[in-house]
Amino acid sequence: RQWMEKRMAEPRSSSQLLQNAVYGDDALETYFEENEGNLVQSPKSMLGYNLHPRARQTITGIATHILEHIRLTASAQLGAPVREALLGRPVQFRSSIGEAGNDQALDILREAAGQAGFDHIDFLEEPAAAAMHYHAESRDRHQAVIVDIGGGTTDIAHAEVGGSQAPRIHRAWGIARGGTDIDLALSLSGYMPLFGRGITRVPTHHYVEAATVQDMTRQREFRQHNYDNVDAPWGARLQALQDTGNTARLYRDVERAKIALSGASEHRSTLDYIARDLHVDNSADGLAAAAHGYLTQIRELLAQVRSDIGGDPDAVFLTGGMSRAGYLRQAAAEAFPGARMVHGEPSLGVVQGLALAAASRD
Ligand SMILES: Nc1ncnc2c1ncn2[C@@H]1O[C@H](COP(=O)(O)OP(=O)(O)OP(=O)(O)O)[C@@H](O)[C@H]1O
Ligand SMILES: [Mg+2]
Repeated sequence: RQWMEKRMAEPRSSSQLLQNAVYGDDALETYFEENEGNLVQSPKSMLGYNLHPRARQTITGIATHILEHIRLTASAQLGAPVREALLGRPVQFRSSIGEAGNDQALDILREAAGQAGFDHIDFLEEPAAAAMHYHAESRDRHQAVIVDIGGGTTDIAHAEVGGSQAPRIHRAWGIARGGTDIDLALSLSGYMPLFGRGITRVPTHHYVEAATVQDMTRQREFRQHNYDNVDAPWGARLQALQDTGNTARLYRDVERAKIALSGASEHRSTLDYIARDLHVDNSADGLAAAAHGYLTQIRELLAQVRSDIGGDPDAVFLTGGMSRAGYLRQAAAEAFPGARMVHGEPSLGVVQGLALAAASRD
């Protein structure tokens, strides 16, 4: 009741804005169908950004809604009110304000959890959570490096796991880089030339704005540019890209190409929402070139980890959506030549670990 009362007394703007909000896969479908509204893609990646008070309120409202949905669903399933939560967090949040980004992200999550009706929350670093999951699956005691490669961040833990003793997490590392950085590079090199990048005099940052769908400010800026005087066919294509939903459609095509090119040598995207019969072919070599920047960063991180722990662990456990990509599996294997590679479930490693960790705290 206290929680309800507090909520009623609060300013309504962001909750009103979110009254008709749609979440998850339905959100993209609805947005494309209705051709209006505001799309917030990967709100988690914005928690550490320099946010206007209004944007911060919206992001907090979204986080509240998601946490409330989870709390109510769990309460219904368990037949008892759930009021405590263990939340996973990356070692380093994506941030535009340096270290302060981590504090802001945790503040927003705490506030959202409170508004969602949680009385008590704790945080656990996501690679440490994945280590708990791997521990539960390991019979024999051994040293392991746990690597979680996600869309926004890459997180690593060094832990002693397996057997009947409790797992010991020695240390964690993380960088705010992941699959979306490959998407951005692939968009700029493989798709934006169709819109005149490198050909017209449109400044490069316009293309970055268009490709960065997670950043609401950049998206707004891109839509405000005037391309009336840009040569054909690029001017008309840029204007089409400014139409509602089209940067999100392009982003979806870029991500699909990245995923397809993990297993195929060629991939065609059809951009009929930009112009009739417009399409683009990308190759695995093109993807490799686009992934080069991120690959360099993850190789450096893995080398740092190996040097910090003084050699190879017994095993390297891989999880996270990007761990499905062969070139990243290969990078991990090359970084720890003496270790056994273990491929975990890419989507559930972290959350299963969180559930185990939460249960073991009771
Ligand atoms: N088969 C695949 N090949 C390559 N990449 C893939 C594949 N499947 C998913 N991905 C990528 O994995 C990423 C999502 O991974 P994951 O679900 O672990 O991220 P997340 O937990 O939401 O983000 P983060 O952990 O960074 O906060 C996306 O960039 C997606 O494109
Ligand atoms: Mg993750």
